[in-house]
Amino acid sequence: MERTTVLITGCSSGIGLGLAARLAADGRFKVYATMRDLAKGKRLLERLGGCCPDTLEVLQLDVTDLRSVAAAAQRVQEQRLDVLVCNAGVGLMGPLETCSEQAMKTLFEVNLFGAIRTIQAFLPAMKRRRAGRILVSSSIGGLQGLPFNAVYCASKFAVEGLCESLAVVLRPFNIHLTLVECGPVNTSFLANLRRPDPNGSEMQGLDAETRGLYRRFLQHCQGLFRDKAQEVEDVLQAFLEAMGTPCPPLRRLTTQLFTPLLRLRLSSPDGSAYVQAMHDFVFGGGQAGGDQP
Ligand SMILES: NC(=O)c1ccc[n+]([C@@H]2O[C@H](COP(=O)([O-])OP(=O)(O)OC[C@H]3O[C@@H](n4cnc5c(N)ncnc54)[C@H](OP(=O)(O)O)[C@@H]3O)[C@@H](O)[C@H]2O)c1
Repeated sequence: MERTTVLITGCSSGIGLGLAARLAADGRFKVYATMRDLAKGKRLLERLGGCCPDTLEVLQLDVTDLRSVAAAAQRVQEQRLDVLVCNAGVGLMGPLETCSEQAMKTLFEVNLFGAIRTIQAFLPAMKRRRAGRILVSSSIGGLQGLPFNAVYCASKFAVEGLCESLAVVLRPFNIHLTLVECGPVNTSFLANLRRPDPNGSEMQGLDAETRGLYRRFLQHCQGLFRDKAQEVEDVLQAFLEAMGTPCPPLRRLTTQLFTPLLRLRLSSPDGSAYVQAMHDFVFGGGQAGGDQP
């Protein structure tokens, strides 16, 4: 039986690691699990019982480095790549005034340009074969603005625009593109993302009201991840469906958590109702109030 070949970016942890382990253990797939730091590959091998099965190959791939992307594409060139999963991503939280130019550029380098580079590298072969699947880890934050996540949401909105546009052109090539949109998922994403300490020096000079809102947002966010986050295993089904169904959808949400807010956003094009509802959802009704001493 011919195996389905899958290349995944960002397999050192979280969703990428979970997906690579699941597919490699299945037997029907050949998985190219890529990560920017191969030293982190140990975790994936541990998940698979300590040794590398013949269904798995771990490759170096840093999505911000064109040469690294090209080298990975070269490595898989002799294989037919059936599925490309652009999963690598980073976060950035905090009041916009505290987001440094460098942090914003790094975020876009990974989340947007990283996905573009990877797709550009693997698309020509898929087009020649007139077959393939591209799955992209987007986010609820690619569908609706989330407070204190402005730059992250900007990057995921950009990814959504990129993929929606591309999907139209890929249709005659029999290449299906699916955006997998997660809400909070229990990975190291929250711990890894850059965010200013509400008492730190980056917050100095910021008005008291924004500082107060930011504290309340952090509490809300921690509660959301504690009480409502999905486990990696729960979101993998969305990826598996996008790989397995004959005509996968362009968008696949993994949770209904934000559906009422999303419906409101879509049904009220001028945006005012959404802004108010999201404000109430995160900060509660009424006025936000200032910083607490
Ligand atoms: N967890 C959530 O709540 C959530 C919600 C919505 C969407 N998502 C999206 O899901 C995707 C996976 O996130 P996760 O939750 O699994 O978080 P994670 O555990 O932090 O995993 C992120 C992965 O991206 C990799 N990465 C970062 N920069 C990279 C680069 N330059 N080149 C290659 N890989 C790079 C990381 O590698 P290193 O170990 O080398 O840093 C890591 O393997 C992201 O696109 C994220 O935006 C996550």
